[in-house]
Amino acid sequence: MKIVNLVGARPNFVKIAPLIREMRRFGDIEPLLVHTGQHYDEAMAGQFFRDLDIPTPDASLGVGSGSHAYQTAEVMRRLEPVLEKAGPDVLVVVGDVNSTLAGALTAAKLGIPVAHVEAGLRSFDPTMPEEINRRLTDAVSDYLFVTEESGRRNLLREGADPAKIHLVGNVMIDALELYRPQWERSTIAGRLGLSCKDYGVVTLHRPSNVDRPEKFQTVVRALSEVAEHIPLVFPVHPRTRHRIRESLDGEEPGRAAGRLQCVDPLGYLDFVALVSRARVVLTDSGGLQEETTALGVPCLTLRERTERPVTVSAGTNRLVGTAPDRIVEEARRVVESRTPRVQPPPLWDGRAAERIVALLRGRR
Ligand code: UD1
Repeated sequence: MKIVNLVGARPNFVKIAPLIREMRRFGDIEPLLVHTGQHYDEAMAGQFFRDLDIPTPDASLGVGSGSHAYQTAEVMRRLEPVLEKAGPDVLVVVGDVNSTLAGALTAAKLGIPVAHVEAGLRSFDPTMPEEINRRLTDAVSDYLFVTEESGRRNLLREGADPAKIHLVGNVMIDALELYRPQWERSTIAGRLGLSCKDYGVVTLHRPSNVDRPEKFQTVVRALSEVAEHIPLVFPVHPRTRHRIRESLDGEEPGRAAGRLQCVDPLGYLDFVALVSRARVVLTDSGGLQEETTALGVPCLTLRERTERPVTVSAGTNRLVGTAPDRIVEEARRVVESRTPRVQPPPLWDGRAAERIVALLRGRR
């Protein structure tokens, strides 16, 4: 069985690593890897390949940055001949980035079955580019591998064939468990001068939060205020780095006070280690809402909606929006209270890749 696995952007690398590792256990599977090049920097891609021991791609499409139309179209144009030549039995796509949608469309039009890992998540916010990617990817997928019960409900409501839907758990949590021995050895917190459970971690990169200068400035001011209560470390995504240059005249937020520390994006192992020892996480990321749930770290999500509701109902996540007073108040509340103990959501047990590969092998 030939399986082409497609990756493009940082969160994809984390999800594909446990899947390829599982596929390689079977002599009857030939797993190939194609990297679109949506993310290409050492910090956004190279470091992740090394940390997660991802094999060198069989094909690299070198698409790079650009508008949504450019990225989607270029991935399709460059992937089509690769898929035609490889003739796989299935294309595996993960997550909700532009590469995910472009890969799914290309394969579907060639008559190649598509497996979507992390299907069914919905924020019901059509202004999020990822929401469009999720809906369209699911519409052309033959295997819909779902991480949480809400995903199954959303897909059924949209009329998906129930036989295609499989609640399998979460491959991001597989990665957390698989690489636990490595990230537990990371010394990143000490290297940044931080003590265990006495700091917060910030990530921000959603266009809705960082692309509009007034909004970005407001959120950054709120974070600077939070940093008066607890030191914050902020690994800055390249999109956000550009906005710091444009919206904040290059002035790193909080630098004067020295309590909001901006650092370059971290590799996977250092980042998970930093999060696992944090008192609180403030983020607009999707995956981090899940990782903090699994790690039992309180997470404040600076968005109005989440496509991952189980992280709120069963996990440590709270949706706090972007009003500065609310962010500051919620952060203070978390810092002053004890961290609640939570049970991980059903099937977030480190065995999602095993279930996915078993289903793919069983359907030949
Ligand atoms: C993309 C995904 C988003 C995901 C995020 C994770 C889409 C629509 N968005 O957003 O869902 O949460 O990745 O990081 O697919 N850049 C670099 N180096 C890189 C990559 C990007 O400098 O290696 C800069 C470029 O200026 C680029 C900008 O970051 O224009 C944005 O990159 P892009 O891939 O378009 O979107 P992300 O914001 O990273």
